[in-house]
Amino acid sequence: MRGHDLFRVAAIFAVMLCYSTILLGGNVMASNNGLACPDWPSCFGNGNFLPALHGGVIAEWGHRVSAFFLSASILVLAILGLAFERKRQVLLRLGLAALALVVGEALLGGLVVENQLESSLVITHLGIATVLFGVLLVVALLANLRELPARWIRWARQAAEEQTRVPGLSGGVGRPAPGRADPAPERAASREA
Ligand code: HEM
Repeated sequence: MRGHDLFRVAAIFAVMLCYSTILLGGNVMASNNGLACPDWPSCFGNGNFLPALHGGVIAEWGHRVSAFFLSASILVLAILGLAFERKRQVLLRLGLAALALVVGEALLGGLVVENQLESSLVITHLGIATVLFGVLLVVALLANLRELPARWIRWARQAAEEQTRVPGLSGGVGRPAPGRADPAPERAASREA
């Protein structure tokens, strides 16, 4: 497997793990089990990372384990980016941004617990999770563009072309609307004058 392939597969893994972690976090919240592990990073103190699994601990601890695998997968993604994607700066930067976000999110998860589920912290935790998912989705899509089925690309082109036909949106995708002159040369000429 080439380096680019490793990166694009790692990106897909990270998106899927992020989605699972978000679902498990929603489950913790909905089942009111946010404090089933009352401390962080251990669960019931004294460096206990493998608590007895019963009741709400299963939900809370499951969310933490999923977050751990998500963080590991994003670390791998960022390392692969540094190793193989230096020429595709967008992918490299988004991978590093995802790493920063997931580290912040894990620390914030700890703060949520230490502060007895303070609502502003919970909302920020949800907000960062959403941004992280968006960033990973964009990385996975861009890294896998060449692998996407041709008909998906056709649909995207078609949607973009529909957009250029909306009045007032000429040039929205870098081209003037049909029947309109490209204003760019005129603008350039007036700047030079
Ligand atoms: C690192 C990736 C993580 C992601 C993407 C993530 C995502 C989420 C999401 C989406 C929720 C649901 C929030 C809501 O519905 O309003 C949630 C809840 C929660 N998360 Fe995380 N989380 C992560 C890590 C952690 C970690 C490491 C902890 C450590 C304790 C943690 C603790 C919690 C708690 C306690 C709740 C429930 C809050 C409540 O019951 O009010 N999270 N998480």
